[in-house]
Amino acid sequence: MKTELKFSAAVGAASELLVVFAVDHSTSKDKDAKPELALLTAESVLTAAAESVLTSGEFKAAANETLLLHAPVGLAAKRLLLVGLGKAAKLGVADVRKGAGTAVRFAKPRTIREVAIVVPEFETLPPGPCVRAIVEGSLIADFDPDIYRSDRKDQSVSSVTVLAGDSTHQAALEAAFAEGVTIAESQNWARSLVNEPGNILTPTELGARAAAMAAEVGLKCEVYSAEKLHELKMGAFWAVAQGSEQPPALIVTTYEPEGVAASSGENAGPVLGLIGKAITFDTGGISIKPADGMEKMKYDMAGGAAMLGAMRAIALLKPKVKVVSVVCSAENMPSGKAYRPGDVVTAMSGKTIEVMNTDAEGRMVLADGLHYAKQLGVTHLIDAATLTGACVVALGMVNAGAFSNDDETYGHFAEATKISGDKFWRLPEEDEYRDQIKSQIADIMNTGGSRWGGAITAAMFLKEFVGETPWIHLDIAGVAWMEDQKPWIAKGPSGTPVRSLVEWVRSYAE
Ligand code: BES
Ligand code: MN
Ligand code: ZN
Repeated sequence: MKTELKFSAAVGAASELLVVFAVDHSTSKDKDAKPELALLTAESVLTAAAESVLTSGEFKAAANETLLLHAPVGLAAKRLLLVGLGKAAKLGVADVRKGAGTAVRFAKPRTIREVAIVVPEFETLPPGPCVRAIVEGSLIADFDPDIYRSDRKDQSVSSVTVLAGDSTHQAALEAAFAEGVTIAESQNWARSLVNEPGNILTPTELGARAAAMAAEVGLKCEVYSAEKLHELKMGAFWAVAQGSEQPPALIVTTYEPEGVAASSGENAGPVLGLIGKAITFDTGGISIKPADGMEKMKYDMAGGAAMLGAMRAIALLKPKVKVVSVVCSAENMPSGKAYRPGDVVTAMSGKTIEVMNTDAEGRMVLADGLHYAKQLGVTHLIDAATLTGACVVALGMVNAGAFSNDDETYGHFAEATKISGDKFWRLPEEDEYRDQIKSQIADIMNTGGSRWGGAITAAMFLKEFVGETPWIHLDIAGVAWMEDQKPWIAKGPSGTPVRSLVEWVRSYAE
């Protein structure tokens, strides 16, 4: 899909599909109350073209509601699509991102290949973030996961033009637009990894794709396998990896911008560490999972994919801050070589772990990934993992879980999510919960003694390997995969939280 930002009036845009956003200004909570509709444009010709349908009552401008008009009067476009953004009072940039996505996904199955979207004009919607959100939403919406269908019809939209009528802030809008393209393409790159089945995307293949991406965007990337895990004494990571015929991959990617303060010494700036769980397939191991839904466990590498996607965007956006990413990739299999419940293994940090359940493998690989990142000089840690079903029980598929041992670091992340539109809900990591992972015979167990608070005990386990370093843990089990399609995004890999990670990193730039 090609994307373009133009500074011209919508009235003259000779597009297959001109898209304009609509809102409802009414404040009444009564469902039957008459909506007060308005198009978010200063171009009265657009409103005039839609006049009769706006007053007819057949369109209510509910969020992601669409209405198509052919041959709109007075416009150069062939069709005019109204996309609702809901109530004006609650409007935010995230609604615009989804609205743009809804327009693109409206076009795709209808073989409309050319879309032009009018930048909304509204007091709570700043133009820069809107331009960025429109191009992001469009690119994200254009993604479909059906790449292995022999009869696949590529229904990609060939071009999206973002129409900013007003060129007062041209340079700023162009910058916002370019950022949006980079970030959304990186998110889609991560999604295409998550979409791959376990037989194709092995840890070795993930390493190869990371290395190819790194070479393309100018990142340093090293991919290590089993020997390195032994050399570093990564006993927890190896415990998971040992059961599979597929060798593990430890993927270390480094971004070092020019002219940033030396990494040690008094005035050293932060070094951000992005740690990802990348289990290319999670059978549960000896504590094997039930057959129902197991096929979904190909997405158990979504945390690692998100980190790599974020690194791609960072390499292209070039913020002035150092970033290191450590992605721990393995396949969790039952076999004669697999680790067993009851095993005691020693993590790289020296802590001993009693394995209670081989299905709690994500925290095992991350334990060594987090410790290794600290050894590489990281000052702030963030990890993302499809870590627990318990997190999905707690928060469903709307919010992902977030944990942090440092309010300031979390504050940066909370601000980042306001820009990204990703939804996270912070959960506790207080010391009272630590009792649940105490072991009789080792330092800690890899699961809580009971099921209660499963997302929290998993976080407590990770915390053991973080020490005093400021740290954020993101449990994305419920949000990394869309169970159903939405008007703005296909069913399948979501690419969450690539955008939030990129914004978090940018918030530390000099
Ligand atoms: N990969 C799973 C978590 C998961 C569940 C991700 C559902 C996506 C959707 C993880 O490795 C796992 O199996 N966790 C166990 C932990 C338990 C054994 C303590 C779980 O959540 O059941
Ligand atoms: Mn598991
Ligand atoms: Zn898992």
